[in-house]
Amino acid sequence: MQITMIGAGYVGLTTGTCLATIGHRVCCHDIDAARIARLERFDLPLFEPGLESVMCQAVEAGNLRFSAHLKESLAGADAVFIAVGTPSAPDGGIDLSHVLSAARKIAPHLKRSALVVVKSTVVAGTARRVREIIARERGAFDIRVASNPEFLREGSAVKDFMEPDRIVIGADDTRSRNIMRSIYRHFSQAGVPIVATTTSNAELIKYAANAFLALKIGFVNEVADLCEKAGGDIVDVARGIGLDRRIGESFLAPGPGFGGSCFPKDTRAFAATGRQFGAPQKLIETLVARNEQRKTGLARRILKEAQLPPGSTVAVLGLAFKSNTDDVRESAALNIIPLLRDAGLQVTVHDPKASMNARRHIKDVKWANCPYAACDGAGAAVILTEWDEYRKLDLARLARSLSGDALFDYRNLFDPRSVAQQGLRYFCIGRMAPSARQRAGVSSLDAWNQRVAAPGHA
Ligand code: UGA
Repeated sequence: MQITMIGAGYVGLTTGTCLATIGHRVCCHDIDAARIARLERFDLPLFEPGLESVMCQAVEAGNLRFSAHLKESLAGADAVFIAVGTPSAPDGGIDLSHVLSAARKIAPHLKRSALVVVKSTVVAGTARRVREIIARERGAFDIRVASNPEFLREGSAVKDFMEPDRIVIGADDTRSRNIMRSIYRHFSQAGVPIVATTTSNAELIKYAANAFLALKIGFVNEVADLCEKAGGDIVDVARGIGLDRRIGESFLAPGPGFGGSCFPKDTRAFAATGRQFGAPQKLIETLVARNEQRKTGLARRILKEAQLPPGSTVAVLGLAFKSNTDDVRESAALNIIPLLRDAGLQVTVHDPKASMNARRHIKDVKWANCPYAACDGAGAAVILTEWDEYRKLDLARLARSLSGDALFDYRNLFDPRSVAQQGLRYFCIGRMAPSARQRAGVSSLDAWNQRVAAPGHA
């Protein structure tokens, strides 16, 4: 099938490349001509593991090309995917202007049998709005519109596309549904479940899926807070609940609060949609607020526990919102660093991949090219992203580099005992570090456990 992807961002590029890999002829279009020129040179404008090599293969096989010219991109296309951004609107809802404008622009150039597919994350009813806009532009309701939400994670997007748990196709008529089925036949033949439903249901599935995953993270973060107070260990607690197949082990890693281009925006939009339709999503409203407070709370914890005089330096390791991406959108670092600066501290930062993107958002910090250099002379170190490089840090060298003794590990990368052996005070998430037990006057973990299990312990 001949497919055009409108938008060569992270979703459009990954989806277009992977559809080309399974045999479709794909053209990725973007209005940004410089971006298209870079893609033609295989110079990827984003970091996504594995994408470059599958992209090269698809281009060499003659199944993938790039174009900044809209009419030429759309010529002969059987299906046109809209994969443009849907940023947050001021009221927490989403700004559909890019999607609606793309619909207006493609309308005159579509062939009569073409199917338009909304890939962008949009609120219920958007596919129908897109159909109306295209009909208005063409003067006829001859183009059908389907919805096909994506479930790719940045950092593992190619794998997520090629090995999906399910594929959701929303269509309001049989012909559109059949076209969608044939686009994804490669997967259905391999046994991947296809959820064929209406466009509105497909749109709701996307938001409900992201909201539920975000709820899991919000929940485990709060249980981690309770573990800290009650002397528990979130690692064991999360495993203990996650092995129940009804709960599942994934998305139970506590951290500095969820970030990225999706969960924060999508939970806000889900809550706004609930308000708009008179079906308030109170759980999600609370989750959104708690996730924001969490980042501020963790910054305060650094100030309280590190006790650094104004002018001292804090090293922040990890600017990306998670590992394996160069994306810093709504990352914990963007909240926490300004609060440290406001408190009069100097901040030195490091990230293996995201520094370039971070420079657009973070000001007045020093940039280090390795984690040890970031820690050199710093009174405290704070880990915000779970990069493998940080997991492998030599703790003895880290301790020698620091002038102070506090390590705030908001991704739980280390065994608390190994950190304590280096003489560092360890502040992780939902785990009682040996130093904290010692401060509480309890020397062994068993003794600590007995103490917190004792009646009357608060
Ligand atoms: C998320 C969803 O996982 C994808 O299924 C979806 O397609 C995508 O949003 C989207 O809507 O486009 P992504 O934002 O790439 O993907 O990243 P996730 O891996 O889901 O992580 C989101 C945030 O949650 C990160 O800040 C991460 O550090 C945090 N997280 C994740 C945790 O704190 N704990 C966990 O156990 C998992």
